[in-house]
Amino acid sequence: MEYTTLNNGIKIPLVGFGVYQIPTSKTVKAVMTALDNGYRMIDTADYYHNEKEVGEAVAKSDVPRDQVFITSKIQPAPDYDTAMKEIDESVSRIGDYVDLMLIHWPGPANVENYRALEDAQKAGKLRSIGLSSFYGKEYQEILDKCDVTPVIDQNETHIFRQQRDFHEQLENDGVKLEAWSPLVEGIHDVFETPTLKQIAEKHHTTTPQVMLRCLVQRGIIVLPRSENPSHIADDIDLFGFELDIDDMMEIRKLDQEQSYFDNFF
Ligand SMILES: NC(=O)c1ccc[n+]([C@@H]2O[C@H](COP(=O)([O-])OP(=O)(O)OC[C@H]3O[C@@H](n4cnc5c(N)ncnc54)[C@H](OP(=O)(O)O)[C@@H]3O)[C@@H](O)[C@H]2O)c1
Repeated sequence: MEYTTLNNGIKIPLVGFGVYQIPTSKTVKAVMTALDNGYRMIDTADYYHNEKEVGEAVAKSDVPRDQVFITSKIQPAPDYDTAMKEIDESVSRIGDYVDLMLIHWPGPANVENYRALEDAQKAGKLRSIGLSSFYGKEYQEILDKCDVTPVIDQNETHIFRQQRDFHEQLENDGVKLEAWSPLVEGIHDVFETPTLKQIAEKHHTTTPQVMLRCLVQRGIIVLPRSENPSHIADDIDLFGFELDIDDMMEIRKLDQEQSYFDNFF
């Protein structure tokens, strides 16, 4: 595993395990399989209804809690007090503290929500705080009005939405880009994309690995999700090959610079 360093000095793995849409009843098994395969970061959310199972899997595993980076997300709350209540509930479902808490998507009271994250961090409940699916004015408002610079903005990022301009802005601000749906949820035959298949063949690897490796190589943190043990193992096996400049240029041509999902930002 390779790590990168957040703007507060905390180290974070470049590959984490996403648990969106993994049913509650299957989360403990999936997370324990991921930990067995070397994952040291798990990405959950209040919205996913499996925070408790993530905490349970980490507690049950042989990996000490302080070696696992757990991220969760509060749903946008109407005010500071509701946001703080959501934070407290998430933390108590997961364990004693959460490594990184994000606001899951922008809402009506972003600054108040973020202030609650700042205060929860001061109180030792959260080690780091950040954003998810914040762009443009909403992103800038947090930077302008709040005290703590977010460590991460977790956004839809994959071969069809490469976020090149926004990534540059985030880097300039000291905020890491973390990719959600880095495998485009496997929809629309994405793994059969001819460019990806050619590059995968050249490196004796798979198309999902090429999709993840091209992001990691740009310094972007990726959060693949799988319930299949062999896919779970493949998706973290990204450090034994390197894409060359020609591969990266070919992948760049696939960028459509827009969301691949109807219901997101
Ligand atoms: N912040 C946000 O708003 C937000 C939004 C979406 C997602 N996320 C985060 O990002 C994580 C990942 O995104 P996602 O869950 O939308 O989907 P994803 O990781 O882009 O794709 C998951 C799909 O890819 C398949 N897959 C994974 N590895 C594979 C492999 N090696 N070969 C073939 N198929 C493979 C999985 O099927 P199998 O189970 O069969 O392997 C699954 O159907 C989420 O779990 C969540 O933590 C955050």
